[in-house]
Amino acid sequence: MRILVTAGPTREYIDPVRYISNASSGKMGFALAESGRERGHRITLVHGPVALTPPSGISVLAVVSAADMLEVCLRVWDEQDALLMTAAVADYTPSSPFTHKIKKSSREKALPLSPTADVLATLAASRRRDRVVIGFALEDRNARRNARAKLDRKKLDAIVLNWPANIGSDRAAVEVLTRGGEWQTWRATTKTRIATRLIRLTEMLSVAGSAGGP
Ligand code: CTP
Repeated sequence: MRILVTAGPTREYIDPVRYISNASSGKMGFALAESGRERGHRITLVHGPVALTPPSGISVLAVVSAADMLEVCLRVWDEQDALLMTAAVADYTPSSPFTHKIKKSSREKALPLSPTADVLATLAASRRRDRVVIGFALEDRNARRNARAKLDRKKLDAIVLNWPANIGSDRAAVEVLTRGGEWQTWRATTKTRIATRLIRLTEMLSVAGSAGGP
């Protein structure tokens, strides 16, 4: 399969030296890219700013902002069979970024923000029916309910529920829900092991999707 993996945060610059971002190490996405390659898939990894070295033998595209991530993903989406969207895309971007560094003052400041495009929902909406789309949900309350709502709203084949405690760690505990299925709890283990299970799940969903006809 040809699998598109997104990883890491995006950065939305306020001025040339300050930005809004999400806490995300990119480890889950990089582990997915490596496990996917190990299982013989052709991987395209689109990642935001991270302190990791990408695995060899895959195609790597580095981006900065949510808008960049959308543009690059749209460019390669046509040739993919699956998407694993682990990236922590910023939901907002400064409406009018400053060209020069903002000077300090003792006054309160407000920063107008505009919503970014939802990369996952955009790609899922423009896919062939046989493509597998898996999203991630980071939740700290009403977790299953919120994640299920994302699965439905973004029209995903599966969603991986993630907790703040997993951020930056080499290990993770996740829950996984496939469309029309039940929640599965995957006990805490290394992100490498979770990645391999997720690649296998992607393969299974791909086979199930093609068996369903055009
Ligand atoms: N996502 C995306 N583009 C965005 C925001 C999120 O593609 N602008 C993707 C993430 O990569 C993830 C999924 O959508 O696969 C859910 O992301 P999450 O941050 O959990 O949820 P949001 O949709 O941003 O909703 P909220 O922040 O309100 O929980």
